[in-house]
Amino acid sequence: MSNYKIHIDPNNVPRHIAIIMDGNGRWAKQKGEMRTFGHASGVEAVREALTGASELGVKHLTLYAFSTENWNRPKEEVDALMNLLVQTIVAEIDELNQNGVRLKAIGDIENLPDGCQEALEKGFEATKNNDRIELILALSYSSRWEIEQAVKTIAQEFHDKKISLDEINQDLISSNLSTNGIPDPELLIRTSGETRISNFLLWQLAYTELHFTPVLWPDFKAEHLYKAILDYQGRERRFGMVSEQITDN
Ligand code: IPE
Ligand code: IPE
Ligand code: MG
Repeated sequence: MSNYKIHIDPNNVPRHIAIIMDGNGRWAKQKGEMRTFGHASGVEAVREALTGASELGVKHLTLYAFSTENWNRPKEEVDALMNLLVQTIVAEIDELNQNGVRLKAIGDIENLPDGCQEALEKGFEATKNNDRIELILALSYSSRWEIEQAVKTIAQEFHDKKISLDEINQDLISSNLSTNGIPDPELLIRTSGETRISNFLLWQLAYTELHFTPVLWPDFKAEHLYKAILDYQGRERRFGMVSEQITDN
């Protein structure tokens, strides 16, 4: 693989990168292994992405690890994923600390098994003072779930006369999402060749650049991240304007 890193403009690195980590099952199947072997093998790819992003100065890395819809998978697979989550967090806390990583999660965390919630709480507590990069795990997350929660909260506040109709605006909606305070991702990467969003960050991705790669998640290396960032840096982000407006100033 060519050396993409040296071509990256250090002044135009995304602050926030989101990744749909997909393809673990197909990766395992190609090797004649169980799907859960694919998930376990994906942990190394998380390390690659996290280290690569951190070295470039990315401030937030959001990883889609388990969707609301993934609860519908066979129970054995769900259980294996939850166990993997606990084991990985427990095993990685020291390294996260050494690397200045602050752990965070978005999603319906209260719906996770107790052991997972406890491991996450330990991880949050142990890493809360780190500020090099924020690793945000999307767990039991779906964007429509999140928007539904936000609408309920806002409706309740309106009903209780804590806010007026005029105060319901895009900022208020954003601040009621689980990504409150986190800038929208500039770049979304999805592995495994699928070109869909699968209920991930629908509101936050409004103007995000999308990068799709056929690489299956367990094969994902820092080089693939660099390639995605270079792709991003080659895009013209117009935000509805015309090219001349962007290049003239
Ligand atoms: C992504 O890999 C991991 C999760 C969704 C938890 P998949 O398990 O979706 O792998 P494929 O898409 O079946 O290959
Ligand atoms: C999206 O992958 C969810 C995660 C990566 C956690 P899926 O494999 O669940 O998505 P679909 O079903 O192919 O859309
Ligand atoms: Mg998949």
